[in-house]
Amino acid sequence: MAVNPYRILARKRAGEALSAEELGAVVAGAAGGGWSDAQLAAFLMAVAIRGLDGAETRALTRAMLESGEQWRLAEEVPTVGDKHSTGGVGDKVSLVLSPLLAACGQPVVMLTGRALGHTGGTADKLETLPGLDLALDRQRCLRLLERVGLAVGIATSDIAPADRRLYALRDRTATVDSLPLITASILSKKLATGAGGIVFDVKTGNGAFMSRLDDARELARLLVETCRGLGLRASALLTDMSQPLGRWVGHTVEVEETVACLEGEGPEDLMRVTRELALELSRLTGTGVTGEALDRAIASGAARRKLDEWLEAQGGDPRSLERLAERRAPEVVTLAGETAGVLAAVDNRRLGLLMAEAAGGGDGAIDAGVGLELCRRLGDEVALGEPLARAYLRRRDRRLESELAACFELGERGAPPALIGDPVAG
Ligand code: URA
Repeated sequence: MAVNPYRILARKRAGEALSAEELGAVVAGAAGGGWSDAQLAAFLMAVAIRGLDGAETRALTRAMLESGEQWRLAEEVPTVGDKHSTGGVGDKVSLVLSPLLAACGQPVVMLTGRALGHTGGTADKLETLPGLDLALDRQRCLRLLERVGLAVGIATSDIAPADRRLYALRDRTATVDSLPLITASILSKKLATGAGGIVFDVKTGNGAFMSRLDDARELARLLVETCRGLGLRASALLTDMSQPLGRWVGHTVEVEETVACLEGEGPEDLMRVTRELALELSRLTGTGVTGEALDRAIASGAARRKLDEWLEAQGGDPRSLERLAERRAPEVVTLAGETAGVLAAVDNRRLGLLMAEAAGGGDGAIDAGVGLELCRRLGDEVALGEPLARAYLRRRDRRLESELAACFELGERGAPPALIGDPVAG
């Protein structure tokens, strides 16, 4: 049957299920330019309204994946694992988890992303390290896995090119939050490396893209089922993003906090999430890493040394990790509440956006030294005038400071757990 764009659009608009061939035609049209922006936008809107079933989501993901390079790393390193976060504020789990697992013999590959909206990007944080080269290809990745057990990069334009065009259109057509479109977009890039197993950290709470727990749970289920349908072992944890994860938000300050975690000084919530994701990934790939092995890797210094080893192998200078604190922005502003009470809520999305604004130079450049230190967690008692947070700014800015302070609400509610429910298993 001929795959005619008009007919495909009419069928999806009517709520009919599309065949793999039809979805392949949409993706080929996106990657090769055969479909106009108007046709693709109509497709995205029809999907956002009508949805895709499991078979369609798999077919769309596969076609988007096959629109670009595939590295099939597990053919050479069967136990190689990957981890993906749906994004949040202060989320530096990837930075901690990858050297920690590599130090325990679990090979890790990760193609990281840039900041999106209020969430920080792992690639942006890593790029604050001088010399670090995040451009990877299959050969370089395999060499790094063999030498260090760890390869971290950034997705290139050769990976899932169809997603680049579709994603940009989603952003302009109010179709970003369609769950099957999110699933296909994430997986088309994640599956390109061809890891042997993948664990998803699906965030929920007001600093997550899926702020409602039900939506986060549905996204977790779709990600895991689609991976499984495409032959990849996967599972997902649902984790809390109703406050920043860990104690720091920013670029160099989050790398600083990563180093602290690997030296055994990590905050409880961040370490708990990292640990559960690490154990889940090892379970999927069958490398048998235990909680004791993770503890030993930190206590013996092996995890911290692995970070140095990896940084050097990708062109960075491990000595730069010793001097991160010197790079904090100089104006330290204490944010305090106007009453005493319990820290009841954090407007985490707003906090993320304000910190992105504070670090943005307006010309696209990032001031990597700008950061925020959280002094209190949800559920903590706060006496009158006690600091809630400290902002590290390049220059004083009263409006920004008062908007940051307004993100913290004192009241009577308690703390949410860092991990929510059981893993969505694959
Ligand atoms: N990240 C992606 O790569 N795609 C989405 O749609 C959402 C988050």
